[in-house]
Amino acid sequence: MKRNILTKMVIVGGVTVLSSALLAGCGSKDNAVQGSGKSPIIVEGPMPIEAEKFAGKLKNVKEEKSGSFVFYVGTLNDYPVIVAKTGKGMENTAAATAVAIEKYHPAAIINQGTSGGHDPSLNVFDIVLGQRTTNLGSLKTETKLANEGMDPTLWKPMDLMASEGSAGEDPNAEKPRFYDGDKDLLEAALAVKDTYTKGKVVEGTIGSADVWNNEVDRINWFHTKYGTSVEEMEGASAAQIAKAYGVPFLGIRILSNNKTNGGKYDPSTAEANQEYVYEVLKKYIENHG
Ligand code: 5AD
Repeated sequence: MKRNILTKMVIVGGVTVLSSALLAGCGSKDNAVQGSGKSPIIVEGPMPIEAEKFAGKLKNVKEEKSGSFVFYVGTLNDYPVIVAKTGKGMENTAAATAVAIEKYHPAAIINQGTSGGHDPSLNVFDIVLGQRTTNLGSLKTETKLANEGMDPTLWKPMDLMASEGSAGEDPNAEKPRFYDGDKDLLEAALAVKDTYTKGKVVEGTIGSADVWNNEVDRINWFHTKYGTSVEEMEGASAAQIAKAYGVPFLGIRILSNNKTNGGKYDPSTAEANQEYVYEVLKKYIENHG
């Protein structure tokens, strides 16, 4: 079939068409993922310490790049799994998620990594399963004239997905937008919660923005207004793009720090989270593979 198409292209289109057809053939279509006939699961991690441990657990790994995004294409228990090292922040993550969906047509996406606590009952090494994920950077300020100052406590959440019209003028957009975690992914995560022994695993709300909040009053403001358990810089952008394509999504975030109870930053949490997500994935594959 492929050969027939190629032969036709050579005759009608010449060298340029032939070479682009060959390139397409050498890309994602011929890799381990497509060869298996199953849709892969994508596990995203922003930083090397949040992605490479997991990538090291895959078999038959082939590294592919798009822009600055690195995709480790491999298998876990013979099921296709791709670890995406997205880079930090909302823009990298949204773009890497869209590229990954277009390129690999995943069955599900898990966005995982470290986070900062908004809930004083959560400690460093506890893990939050994102029952909901929300963008903490979508805000509308009060109107104030020159020299009237600024007051972040009066800022309102702004839902950019409320309509296609101007969010600045739409009173219906004055609310947070929450993206629900997929129930099958959540079910798999809850089923293996006891395998994790370094802290608790709880369901909660993950808040994202390209901001690292260290002001406890501001953290408390988000915690009260949005019900956030933790903050990080990626989940909501991946959730938004996954929803745009109808791909099941779950955020899984470990606390690496918590300003609300003095929890000191510990980078080794990144590895602990990948160990847990590995168990989640095995369970999900067992249920759906
Ligand atoms: N606030 C914001 N991002 C955090 N991260 C870990 N803790 C926090 C925090 N308190 C994660 C982000 C980003 C990197 C800076 O670490 O998701 O990838």
